[in-house]
Amino acid sequence: MKSDSCVPDLLSFLDSSPTASLAVMRLAAKLDEKGFVRLEEGDSWNIGTDVRFYTIRSSSSIIAGVTGTEACETTGCRIIGAHTDFPGFRIKPESDRKKENISVLGVELYGNPILATWFDRDLSLAGTLAVRAGNSISRRSFMIRKPIFRMASPAIHIEREINKNGFKVDPEKNTPLLFSSAGAVFDDVLSLACESADVQRDSVSGWSMEVWDPQPAALGGLEDDFIFSGRLDNLTMCHAAIEALLSSEDSHETRLVSLFNSEEVGSRTLNGARSAFLDSVIERLAGGRNEYFRCLARSIQVSADGAHAVHPNYPEKHDPGCRPVLGGGPVIKVNAAEKYTSSDVTSAYFKTCAERSGVDVQYFVSRNDMPCGSTIGPITSTRTGIRSVDVGNPMLSMHSVRETAGKADHDAMIKVLTEHMMGSVSIRD
Ligand code: CO
Repeated sequence: MKSDSCVPDLLSFLDSSPTASLAVMRLAAKLDEKGFVRLEEGDSWNIGTDVRFYTIRSSSSIIAGVTGTEACETTGCRIIGAHTDFPGFRIKPESDRKKENISVLGVELYGNPILATWFDRDLSLAGTLAVRAGNSISRRSFMIRKPIFRMASPAIHIEREINKNGFKVDPEKNTPLLFSSAGAVFDDVLSLACESADVQRDSVSGWSMEVWDPQPAALGGLEDDFIFSGRLDNLTMCHAAIEALLSSEDSHETRLVSLFNSEEVGSRTLNGARSAFLDSVIERLAGGRNEYFRCLARSIQVSADGAHAVHPNYPEKHDPGCRPVLGGGPVIKVNAAEKYTSSDVTSAYFKTCAERSGVDVQYFVSRNDMPCGSTIGPITSTRTGIRSVDVGNPMLSMHSVRETAGKADHDAMIKVLTEHMMGSVSIRD
């Protein structure tokens, strides 16, 4: 097991992943370095034992794995699931216009960002371009770091009650991005995107563009025990999952990491958790329908997504008993309405993996007067019948443009996930 911290690598991963597609690209590059082979879903697969592979669906979801020394129908798979997307804003088509001599660009909400946190930040652009060569269309990612956009807040003098009433954002009226006082238009933005992707402007016939905050991720707090960054929910768990896969070299189990796009908008997409992406990969590994069902019945999934730490300035928002803190270790999420998959035995499974790796765990349960979120765990578990536990690292300000997490928790989570991948703990229910 690794003794050195994976946090520096996490910070650079966060900085180079302003979109789900770029996050997947970066993780795939790491897998390439470690000798994983890329499989295309459109090809025929014939995977033997002890094979390192990954497959990408629609650029923004990835399943990576190592096949065990025994057939997965007899051992099942050890799976870690997480999501690659995060809340934010997408550029609307045909939306540039001039208002009061400033060029502005309209945005659409993606998921549920804390709107006010995006104001007065140095925002930039990343996304994908649809590039045409003859009649063939392909996708190319791009990333700009220059702060070309602003969501500007109203001055205190024109919104005098803003501190008393809270900064209320009208998502239609107040969010258009300011990008020029010299008459630039959207086509100039698109040209910059083409330049950064190194493609000819006239070969681009479509795009998907996301607003992002290019301020680099940083360690903070007096003792550097916090992580400050955008996209901690849920790129931290994507990173931890791949690190655990790579750290579990001595395992004889079939291990899979499945990272899905679209969680923040309900997972109903061709490569979201509601798609058949994971099922189809497992079926191909198992080889036949009967073997596939045997494999599902013997598999265990850890679904990893951000968890709410107790906020010292909003302590009343948590259950009086379950009070997960930053730096206190991974959190097991419990919910009677099954918005989390954690059960008696799967919670005990994760806790046992934690004990074996010398890591403390914490628990989260929501107050009865506050609805709780959900994640991909219940979706994949419902689809496949794979037993599952929902966990995550404690964090503050979830869905802010700049979230806060605990540094120690990241390496701790990787240790527990590695133990899960080793397959030394089992469930018989
Ligand atoms: Co999440």
